[in-house]
Amino acid sequence: MTIQALGYLGIGTAALDAWSDFATNGIGLQMVDRGAAGRAFRMDDRRQRLILDRALPEGARCFGWEVADAAALDTLAARLEGAGVAVRREPAARADQRFVSGLISFADPAGNRLEAFHGAEIASEPFRPGRAISGFRTGPLGMGHVLMAVPRMDAALGFYRDLLGFRVSDFIRAPVSAYFLHVNPRHHSLALVEGPRTGLHHLMMEFYTLDDVGQNYDIALRTPERIAATLGRHANDLMTSFYQRTPSDFLVECGWGGRDVDDATWQPKEMTMPDIVSFWGHDGLFTSLGDGPPPADAPPLPPPAPGRRAPLQVMEGNYQRLSGACPWWDAMAARAEARPGT
Ligand SMILES: [Fe+2]
Repeated sequence: MTIQALGYLGIGTAALDAWSDFATNGIGLQMVDRGAAGRAFRMDDRRQRLILDRALPEGARCFGWEVADAAALDTLAARLEGAGVAVRREPAARADQRFVSGLISFADPAGNRLEAFHGAEIASEPFRPGRAISGFRTGPLGMGHVLMAVPRMDAALGFYRDLLGFRVSDFIRAPVSAYFLHVNPRHHSLALVEGPRTGLHHLMMEFYTLDDVGQNYDIALRTPERIAATLGRHANDLMTSFYQRTPSDFLVECGWGGRDVDDATWQPKEMTMPDIVSFWGHDGLFTSLGDGPPPADAPPLPPPAPGRRAPLQVMEGNYQRLSGACPWWDAMAARAEARPGT
């Protein structure tokens, strides 16, 4: 029954044209016209990943979680029902609309609509990005991650971690309660933050190259009010990213260089202040998680601890090693190796 990845995200919106411009010319997704059903966007070989679904009420979200096959979907449905969660076996017409072979739907404790599916269709045509980008890091990692604000962390953890089998990467107890959960090597496919607002805060999509993020940042800077959090680098998943407002009321994080986790060796750990603050940048992120701007007398966030840094997380094809020897660097690297984590 294991959930393997975030397969798609559906949103209810009437802002079809604004979304189409944002998604194609901004992010670089490929638009697919779905006629009366709405619009959809590709980010890889799948028929669709981001769906503007006219069947969903305005402002509604639908999170599509992927399992391996029909047997895994049946097992998941039985497990949910065994725990008292109402499960709907969606008709073939609905599965066809999602371009999957089998589909169930249910709700999490906060009332978010979740879908689980298997057998996503592969498009016959190659992916053609909306602007000149290298592409998105998806495949077994799924389409990215989502951060959801939840009213009660204990209820959300009981559902996602204990019932659905999401695994904890790391967590924060103060000043907010937050959990980062993985279902594949991506550091987190789901992040949960306890209140005050509830629902989807952001969807993260990861490019293959850093330049794709920078060029997206340039595009977003033409409309500065679109930037919700500046370019920065996270201290936990090591993603270099920025956050932009969408035509709906959630954000999109566009990033590069997120780390992988290996269940064989990974140990969940608590993150504490000031190390939850990004290495640099991401100005505005904490404000965006709150319910409106912070009060004038709110204490400022502490600056990040000095000297916090980590190696870039690269994959074959998106880096080149520099040639030449540098005694100063060799000495610093040797010290870092002797004191891991510094
Ligand atoms: Fe994120």
